[in-house]
Amino acid sequence: MKKVLLALTALTLLATGAEARTWAEIKKSGTVKVATEGAFPPFNLMKGKTPTGFEVELAEALGKQLGLKVQWTVLPFDSLLIGLNQDRYDFVIASHGITPERQKAVDFSSPHYCTGGAIVTRPGGPLTAKALAGKSVAVQVGTTYLENVRKVPGVRDVKTFPKDTDAQAALMAGRVDAWVGDKFTGLDLVKAQKGKVVQGELLFREKIGMAVKKGNATLLGELNAALSKAQANGTYAKLSKQYFGQDVRCR
Ligand code: ARG
Repeated sequence: MKKVLLALTALTLLATGAEARTWAEIKKSGTVKVATEGAFPPFNLMKGKTPTGFEVELAEALGKQLGLKVQWTVLPFDSLLIGLNQDRYDFVIASHGITPERQKAVDFSSPHYCTGGAIVTRPGGPLTAKALAGKSVAVQVGTTYLENVRKVPGVRDVKTFPKDTDAQAALMAGRVDAWVGDKFTGLDLVKAQKGKVVQGELLFREKIGMAVKKGNATLLGELNAALSKAQANGTYAKLSKQYFGQDVRCR
């Protein structure tokens, strides 16, 4: 029995390439490897070839506090947690809502912000969950928006897009009646497209966290400690104010 178990463990190790790097290994290397999408402004976006945004700057600040350089990997949203489980990087920061489903696959940090999924539509369009009945809605694939729009009774059609910005573009082009996305992203869109779109009801609330490979407790502990410190010493508040004009931490 023991032999069989050992063989199985070896196989799993082979399949995934290696074990997740522990805190001690990361610390020794001097660099923490972080992945994001780079297409979810203002949380994570690309400035040329360099990722930036609230979450990117937050991760950089946490890295600095931990005495580490940050090395970025940029991947499509729906590949991020898969790559994490293949040990391609140490953690993911890409606005993942902490859901029971995702918690089966990865471990989440304490939330690094609190938000919700909101409806955005053109003037005269559906502003409430009730008004979505019979309407077509655009959402990014693999998101909590998709999961929650599916629960709204009577929605005629849910169109999924690889990128959230494509889902927004579908709304602007009149190809759907509404887009459901992050409430802060929605506010930015309303500001940028003055008079062309309006924000409606919040469909659901969520806590957003960073993801580490399941069981990587040492790294998780360090990330949580660094986040609390950033939230206590003003680093977090400053960054949040800069991006949102308010403090977006969970309270
Ligand atoms: N908060 C939503 C979710 O948990 C959307 C996240 C999308 N993130 C991104 N980088 N596109 O699914």
